Amino acid sequence: MNMTQLIALSGSLRANSFNQQLVEIAAEGAREQGVEVRVINLADYPMPLFSEDLEAEGVPAIVNDLKQQFAESQGILLASPEYNGSISGVLKNAIDWLSRPSAQTDIGPAFADKVAGIMATSPGGLGGIRGLVHARDVLFNLGVTVSPNQVAVPSAYQAFDEQGQLSDAETAERVKGLGAQIAQMAQKLA
Ligand SMILES: Cc1cc2nc3c(=O)[nH]c(=O)nc-3n(C[C@H](O)[C@H](O)[C@H](O)COP(=O)(O)O)c2cc1C
Repeated sequence: MNMTQLIALSGSLRANSFNQQLVEIAAEGAREQGVEVRVINLADYPMPLFSEDLEAEGVPAIVNDLKQQFAESQGILLASPEYNGSISGVLKNAIDWLSRPSAQTDIGPAFADKVAGIMATSPGGLGGIRGLVHARDVLFNLGVTVSPNQVAVPSAYQAFDEQGQLSDAETAERVKGLGAQIAQMAQKLA
């Protein structure tokens, strides 16, 4: 049996992204179940805007590197910022690159047959929950089993402390609980 691995990321490039902080907390909950979690930051994977012409010229090495990490994982933890009621363009662009078959390499699928836990946080009162509807839909269309549990944390500026932790213990437990659930689901796939 392979070591269970999750990949965790947010759809924000912002240096102090609340969503990146959120997914780190979910990752902690997953690690407590004994799985390995690779937290990546999309800011470290600067991809061009997807174009089939660029793809035909050769998939950027950075895309293949990230896709390899998805392919090696059985589950995904995703914190999706809500932009105009949907997922961020950065996240959609990354998903579009990663969703493509790897014609030039033997990297396996980034998404199909994996499990995912989705979460969001926003300075607003709904915590980004409208964007999660879209995140869920896109992942579902890529063959991902998305947990019906999800977490949306409102009032992000008040919810997180200076260390990037959630001040409210119950909310932190819910986020960690989602990470733990995805870890358990992924363990069955490893
Ligand atoms: C283009 C844009 C659109 C946004 N639209 C929404 C929105 O629809 N709902 C919402 O709650 N917040 C919205 N926001 C505010 C973001 O939730 C906020 O900037 C948040 O901190 C982004 O997540 P991050 O901290 O992980 O970068 C928007 C921000 C931007 C830049």
